[in-house]
Amino acid sequence: MRGLRISGWGAALPDKTVTNADLEATLDTTDAWITERTGIRERRVGSTTSALAIEAGRLALARAEVDPASVGMVVVATCTPDQVLPATAATVQDALAISGGAMDVNAVCAGFVYGLVTAAGLLATGTDRLLLIGADTMSTIVDWDDRSTAILFADGAGAIVVEATEGPGDLIAFDLDNDGSARHLLQADIGGFIQMDGREVFRRAVRSTVDSAQRTLARAQVSSEEVALFVPHQANVRIVDAVCSRLDIPLDRTVVTLDHHGNTSAASIPLALAEAADEGRLSPGDLVLLAGFGAGMSVASALVRWSVPAGTTGTAPDPEVSP
Ligand SMILES: CC(C)(COP(=O)(O)OP(=O)(O)OC[C@H]1O[C@@H](n2cnc3c(N)ncnc32)[C@H](O)[C@@H]1OP(=O)(O)O)[C@@H](O)C(=O)NCCC(=O)NCCS
Repeated sequence: MRGLRISGWGAALPDKTVTNADLEATLDTTDAWITERTGIRERRVGSTTSALAIEAGRLALARAEVDPASVGMVVVATCTPDQVLPATAATVQDALAISGGAMDVNAVCAGFVYGLVTAAGLLATGTDRLLLIGADTMSTIVDWDDRSTAILFADGAGAIVVEATEGPGDLIAFDLDNDGSARHLLQADIGGFIQMDGREVFRRAVRSTVDSAQRTLARAQVSSEEVALFVPHQANVRIVDAVCSRLDIPLDRTVVTLDHHGNTSAASIPLALAEAADEGRLSPGDLVLLAGFGAGMSVASALVRWSVPAGTTGTAPDPEVSP
């Protein structure tokens, strides 16, 4: 049996910050409304999905101290690829000089956890080392004149390096689910903008995330008290609050980055994980619960054991990267 072990992480954000005050200038909205209804205060916007993915991936490889040529597969979770074809992973592979396979995964905001489970399958069946990236530029599919969506979404990328290890590894349990009959609640046509029934998405997000996380914890035979850190999808702080209270996980064991990241879709969970790791909130042996939901309506959760040695910082390479 071959399991999965995380050996490095990285994150990338565009330079440009858009505050709620900036949005007040162009939309019929207020900083107070956005902060109270979503918890978002500012977000980062700009760049391309591949450029952000490359930067996050390069940092993750540096932290893991691995030669890109030893990586056998790159998987990019995204719903905003640079092009319809090829996969964004192909651009990343070329820029980082990675050998082996390259593909994108699209489960929208649940995409990173779907990608993690896909990675575990690839490692179990022969790949030795894999770069998994969640990257999205949601700003490119948002109608900046639509106050119901423009306030929510943003851009970014987060990455991890995962390695095959003998034995069961650190992906302890997971749950993947989708309700395709509800896909009309959150959608964007090719070339079009995001359309969303916000209230219904909110309601389903809370219920599906709680249900999925509970299935994962039950499969792992782990109680929520044993979860050292909860890393939920960063969409709305009221969703995070509701999920935490139903799972009985206090906010001091939960990562919240949406106040400064907004909703970066597939990047949201790896960005939050990277921020927690950078801040020293993770120690070897910690049980980390990841849970994401998104268009589809997709939902995914995973319980992983953090096993990166304490003090792993690596060296940050030049962040000036173009695809
Ligand atoms: C979008 C969301 C923030 C709206 O918050 P809400 O509390 O549900 O607000 P509602 O949609 O009920 O709207 C309440 C009022 O605020 C208004 N409103 C909506 N957006 C506004 C904005 N940006 N600024 C000011 N007022 C706004 C509405 O027009 C409505 O006015 P009305 O009562 O006069 O009709 C919330 O529903 C949400 O976060 N949903 C989940 C979305 C999500 O996470 N999507 C991504 C999933 S991966």
